[in-house]
Amino acid sequence: METFKLKVFRYDPTKDSQPYYQTYELPVEKGMTVLAALFKAKEEQDPSISFRYNCRAAICGSCAMRINGHATLACKVQVTHILEKYHTDTITVDPIGNVRPLKDLIYDMDWLIDKMKKVKPWFIPKEAPPKDGKEYRQSPEDHNKIDFASDCILCASCMSDCNALKVNKDFLGPMVHSKAYRFAADTRDGAKRERLEAVLEDLNLEWCVRCWECTTRCPKEVQPYENIVRLRIMAAEEGFKTPGEIHAEIFEQDILNRGLLNEMLLPMRQEGIVGAIKRAPFGIKMLFKGKVNYADFFGGHKIKRLEEIKIIYEKAKEKEKEVHIKLPQIMGVIYEDKRKTAKRANFAETGGNE
Ligand code: SF4
Ligand code: SF4
Ligand code: FES
Repeated sequence: METFKLKVFRYDPTKDSQPYYQTYELPVEKGMTVLAALFKAKEEQDPSISFRYNCRAAICGSCAMRINGHATLACKVQVTHILEKYHTDTITVDPIGNVRPLKDLIYDMDWLIDKMKKVKPWFIPKEAPPKDGKEYRQSPEDHNKIDFASDCILCASCMSDCNALKVNKDFLGPMVHSKAYRFAADTRDGAKRERLEAVLEDLNLEWCVRCWECTTRCPKEVQPYENIVRLRIMAAEEGFKTPGEIHAEIFEQDILNRGLLNEMLLPMRQEGIVGAIKRAPFGIKMLFKGKVNYADFFGGHKIKRLEEIKIIYEKAKEKEKEVHIKLPQIMGVIYEDKRKTAKRANFAETGGNE
């Protein structure tokens, strides 16, 4: 019988000074998920392996882990698919990234819960309950704005591979931002500004480096990165003047007036004289590396054929009216459930989101 190696991250803080890997040889069985493989190893070879699970049906979010380096639900991906995908005979399982392992694949969830509390992930009605005693209602159009975000199962796969979280543990992260979006965009919710204030605190939304990794890893197509963009748009629509928006407006003015960005004057225009002083050491480094265009200090030059840029700009402005999103923020994101048009993966063929 064909076999494969299941290489499991092991760590027991009561006896191990360092984590290590332990490998189990298992038969390749048709339809076997990675979670089922972990069970087989635990039941037949080593009862001490620890991992979380509950539904075994990609619903509860408990079994998220890194499988060959990428976070996903162990109950959703099949062994055969992973072996084929990576052209290997070994499946390596680690806890999700950006977390503190507690024991083997089980990690400390407190930090996620603490982050989540900041955006109050529960419905705060803006009106008294309907007099007929029925539930708060909303139109299908309004519901479409939050339908996909409501599918989040809090598995934290998106948090695992978030590049912004790697460098800043105070970043709330895509799971939390998505949840904030789900409620802030709910037409029945009364705490929109409060939620926006929470995600804007300490420039939180700005920390996202737009790598799209979270959206790629999400097993439920919640679109966490896009929800961050939607929160930015919402904050601008609500009148919050965020650094991101100021930045984008300066870009817009530069492109319109010169066809080029003036990176030299940008910090001063964005953050005033104090910001420019703070960034002076960086500017001096750029000067010595020959990266500074001196003309930019005096406004810089304009590109030839600026009229053509203006024509493109006018066209984009027309688009702005059409999609009701301010021009600097158009990033290919619209208030729509993308899944309606996308062909969904065939679970049997692909083993889920892999
Ligand atoms: S797009 Fe932003 S939130 Fe998503 S993983 Fe990248 S840095 Fe994190
Ligand atoms: S957004 Fe997706 S990946 Fe992130 S916690 Fe929710 S379901 Fe999991
Ligand atoms: S066990 Fe529930 S999502 Fe995998």
